[in-house]
Amino acid sequence: MSAARRMDPKRRRRIGLWSLALVLGLSFVLPLGSYGLHWLGQTAVAQDITGGIVGGENPRSNFWNAVNHGAQGYSAVKGEGANVLVVRSAAEWQQFRQGTIAKYLPWAVVVMAVLILLFHLIFGKQKLDQPLSGRKVPRWGWFNRLLHWTTAVTFIALAITGLSMLIGRELLIPLLGKEGFAMWAQASIQVHNVVGLVFAVCIALMVVLWVWHNIPNKVDVAWLKAGGGLFSKNAHPSAGRFNAGEKIWFWLLATGGVVVVLSGLVMVSPNYGIELAFLNDVRAQMQQANVVHAILSVLWTALALGHIYIGTAGTEGAFEGMSTGYVSEEWARQHHDLWFEKMVEKGKVVEPSRGQEGVSGQTVSSH
Ligand code: HEM
Repeated sequence: MSAARRMDPKRRRRIGLWSLALVLGLSFVLPLGSYGLHWLGQTAVAQDITGGIVGGENPRSNFWNAVNHGAQGYSAVKGEGANVLVVRSAAEWQQFRQGTIAKYLPWAVVVMAVLILLFHLIFGKQKLDQPLSGRKVPRWGWFNRLLHWTTAVTFIALAITGLSMLIGRELLIPLLGKEGFAMWAQASIQVHNVVGLVFAVCIALMVVLWVWHNIPNKVDVAWLKAGGGLFSKNAHPSAGRFNAGEKIWFWLLATGGVVVVLSGLVMVSPNYGIELAFLNDVRAQMQQANVVHAILSVLWTALALGHIYIGTAGTEGAFEGMSTGYVSEEWARQHHDLWFEKMVEKGKVVEPSRGQEGVSGQTVSSH
């Protein structure tokens, strides 16, 4: 007979109970052992959730912490930042550009297009009140037209290529395929960089040549109060050579537009080997320039839709001025009465029989 069989059942139960009590007791007490060690002066190694070290060193965490904060290693590639594995600020910039800017901002263009369409459906085209007499008034000389259309064409090219870079991945890969989009994106960057320089010159010229006609005055306040006559059929508030709406468009161009051009130049300068004196932290400043450039240029594109609408389908006779250089006497009187009066005083109104010879080539400054 074995010993266990011979053991007294009471004793067996007692041993069982004590064993259970011992196991339970130890399972409570052992985890508290670290406190005991701490009480005895020992330190433990633990890592908090942010990767910091609590109570000692954790070499692996230290290593990734350093990498994450821009520690440098060795790379055979030369150039600023080539030795840095992770540039945290760049990751944050990329997130902002791909996230907030690329996801939400282009909707401003769509919203603007929808608003214009609704406006057109509700209020329709601003028609001329009087029948055409055939008399014309010179409005835009050849140089100003050339300047305007070069600006317009380059702006549209920049808007298309710029938006392709910002949201082309989502929009164009389904249409062009990955390889097709890669080619398009590559071409977009080249076109954007070159056309941008032409555009910059145009904007600079426009600001310098047209600023004199865009100084705000009292007439503009009254024009704005009347909503430019946009929302009523037969109300045409007084205006000089440019009305307040045109002046606002000009000043947006002369401020925000100039910032778009300058931020573009900051980004493109290394491509042309230009070292800008104010660039001391090139990477960070380029990221800032990129954010400013993207936000303002997308908003500008949305606003440009409004300008293009007013210059074409929105107003009868406006496009004629920018294409032929002349507007009808009726358009001039209806939309820019104060300027028209001055043109009459100066004897600039052209009778139908005289045609348009002799006046084309006049610049805006002569009117
Ligand atoms: C297809 C595109 C465009 C069309 C059809 C268009 C049409 C016109 C027309 C008809 C005018 C003359 C208005 C008048 O005589 O009072 C004008 C003026 C002007 N345009 Fe454009 N434009 C276009 C694009 C642009 C772009 C992209 C810019 C600038 C980035 C621009 C800047 C200006 C400025 C500053 C003026 C003078 C002020 C004003 O009338 O608002 N235009 N445009």
